[in-house]
Amino acid sequence: MLVSEVPALREFWYPIAYSGDIGTEPTAFRIFGEDHVAWRPSTDSGVRAAVDECPHRSARLSQGWVADGCLVCPYHGWRFDSSGACVEIPAADPELPIPARAHVGSVLADERYGLVWVCVGSPRAGIPDLGEADDPEFTVIHEMMDVWQASAPRVIDNALDVSHVAWVHRDSVGSAANPRLSDFTVARDDLRVTFSVSYMVSVNEQQKKNLGIESDLTGRTTHADLVQPLVFRGVLEYHENGLRHVLYKTATPIDDRSTLFCQFIARNDAPTAEQREEIAAVDRVVQSEDKVLLEGVNPNFPIEVTTEVHTKADRMTLEYRRVLASLAAEAGAVPSDRAWARHF
Ligand code: FES
Ligand SMILES: [Fe+2]
Repeated sequence: MLVSEVPALREFWYPIAYSGDIGTEPTAFRIFGEDHVAWRPSTDSGVRAAVDECPHRSARLSQGWVADGCLVCPYHGWRFDSSGACVEIPAADPELPIPARAHVGSVLADERYGLVWVCVGSPRAGIPDLGEADDPEFTVIHEMMDVWQASAPRVIDNALDVSHVAWVHRDSVGSAANPRLSDFTVARDDLRVTFSVSYMVSVNEQQKKNLGIESDLTGRTTHADLVQPLVFRGVLEYHENGLRHVLYKTATPIDDRSTLFCQFIARNDAPTAEQREEIAAVDRVVQSEDKVLLEGVNPNFPIEVTTEVHTKADRMTLEYRRVLASLAAEAGAVPSDRAWARHF
């Protein structure tokens, strides 16, 4: 399955930038293989987003600018107000009416958790509630927003796949000598999947500082939560001291083969600014290990569960395939084997 084969994925919200990175300068971004533009009509207004194509002669609106609260197209100077409607056509007689279709192709944009989110379809719900990230007892730390040459379902599949930690992260936090997972049960509620599983992780000298743990090896439970098909929340609970390191991973499909990966965390131990930087540095190393691996994985994600081999330890990622299969089936777009073969 490729992202473009599941139109229902367009009905969710996805981060496209940090809030502070979108100002009155129009900024290009790509989602679901289509070029878009984001901008603010003024420095203190909300973010707007639209298809990056002028309705007049298809110029890139992201090459334009904002003047008097309007987005100005760089080709013939048409001006679009904050609703996206054209309000001025410089070459035309101002007495003539402006065509009703002179409107940018707006998409929904909003902000939450320090991020700009967009929805390019009819949204099923709002920007997801992310629990601890709204809790004043927790400190939110933004860690990374990078383009990965991997497909978005592969990225979230990796987040749900706890048994990879011992191997992919063997040089950082994983313990290849302790690969066994505790038994666990996967719960499914519509598109949401949750489970809790315990395992051992290595604690190097930096992690001892970051986690406040003295042992070289410690037990950890991941309470995983597939919040949306491409948004993951995982509470990493350390048995030794009860620390909760909550990971949020979002995978915005740039196209079928590349993803804007965003990760931020929430911690219940009130880290100092210096500690926050050291915590984020370790998480960036861990994610760079996932990135290398995932960029080598076929972007075509099998949702037909007989395609791959599954074990009892893979129950969560097996369920993820069922979630995506149910979304694909909603649109009647489950690809045939032949359609998959085209993309190899
Ligand atoms: S293409 Fe935008 S004003 Fe002509
Ligand atoms: Fe990983």
